[in-house]
Amino acid sequence: MKYLSKVAADYPASGIRRMFDLARQYDDVIKLTVGEPNFDTPDNIKEACVRALHEGHTHYNPNAGLEELREAVAQRYRHYSEAYTGENVMVTVGGMEALFLSLLTTVNPGDEVIIPDPGFPNYVGQVMMVGARPVTVPVCEQNRFKIRAEDIEKAITPKTKAILLNSPSNPLGSVLNQADIEAIAEVVLKYDLLVYSDEVYDRLIYDNGAYFSMGQIPGMQERVLIINSLSKTYAMTGWRLGYIVGSREIISNMPKLQEGIASCVPTFIQKAAVEALVGPQTAIGRMQADYSRRRDILVDGLNRIPGITCQKPPGSFYAFANIKSFGKTSQEFAEELVMGAKVVAVPGSAFGSMGEGYLRLVFANSDENLQEAIRRIDAFIRKGCTT
Ligand SMILES: Cc1ncc(COP(=O)(O)O)c(C=O)c1O
Repeated sequence: MKYLSKVAADYPASGIRRMFDLARQYDDVIKLTVGEPNFDTPDNIKEACVRALHEGHTHYNPNAGLEELREAVAQRYRHYSEAYTGENVMVTVGGMEALFLSLLTTVNPGDEVIIPDPGFPNYVGQVMMVGARPVTVPVCEQNRFKIRAEDIEKAITPKTKAILLNSPSNPLGSVLNQADIEAIAEVVLKYDLLVYSDEVYDRLIYDNGAYFSMGQIPGMQERVLIINSLSKTYAMTGWRLGYIVGSREIISNMPKLQEGIASCVPTFIQKAAVEALVGPQTAIGRMQADYSRRRDILVDGLNRIPGITCQKPPGSFYAFANIKSFGKTSQEFAEELVMGAKVVAVPGSAFGSMGEGYLRLVFANSDENLQEAIRRIDAFIRKGCTT
């Protein structure tokens, strides 16, 4: 171990990975674990990629990304601010690098960054990687799993540099509305903070709900970095295409850092991304309708099982089910579910201590698999196997 850096030694192991490893030992398991669309990338996007390869777009490109892609992204955000142009956009290797680069560009060692608990597990590790300290804010079921301005304010210290918001949330499925965001914006202004707004699920909103971002509040654009990617919206998780939208002052400092990390995002992938953003959006609507129906199959089914309760998530493709009545840790419950019901879900504790007593289940799966998963969990619990 003497050759390991502190970051490598301390980096938190993934609780999701642990479930994968356990599930691998069983046949015929239904996996409700992977946070990615169960659709293939739409054909028009794939074809644009192949075309780009044949046209010779196989070379380096500018660190910040292709101008046409940066402009296409900016266009998508003009309703946040009319002033956004391609110069407000940095193209990254997925949402993950968008998060990392945002932190690297703005946070110093010793700074504190506020993150939600439960939250996307990579936040903790990414904040650690830049030498900063993640400070968690509890997010509770009784508040419809929404992070509250007053709880954020309690976590602020003189070292706080930024707040990381994630709406719709992974793993909670909650969505912050305009009033929630405006209340948080007041705290942000009061303490002169920066906001990373992780919006990778912004198009996965159900029941005709409206999406609202901190980036839409007039005057906030200078202190908000919008993190997004094509992964979830366009079923492009494997393409690794993300971006950041923010002030020119911050964005203009990112290309030089990208030079030392990845140099640039593959050119033909960016060409396909332009097609994703400006081409027909019909497949997106279809996928969203499917997710909405599948959410109902899963959540309604869970609520019919004695001992389980689950709020209907207004966004994302995650359901966060309460299993506290069984009196077990969520890790124990999840492991028993794999062994006894052959259904794999992620224990809530993998997302932070506030996730204890919950289970995250992904409804980006076929109707049949979801129905079968519910049948298996129901049969398993009615047999009394977890009591
Ligand atoms: C909340 C959240 N942010 C960011 C990401 C990263 O997305 P990408 O696949 O584009 O790197 C994910 C992926 O699961 C996520 O759930």
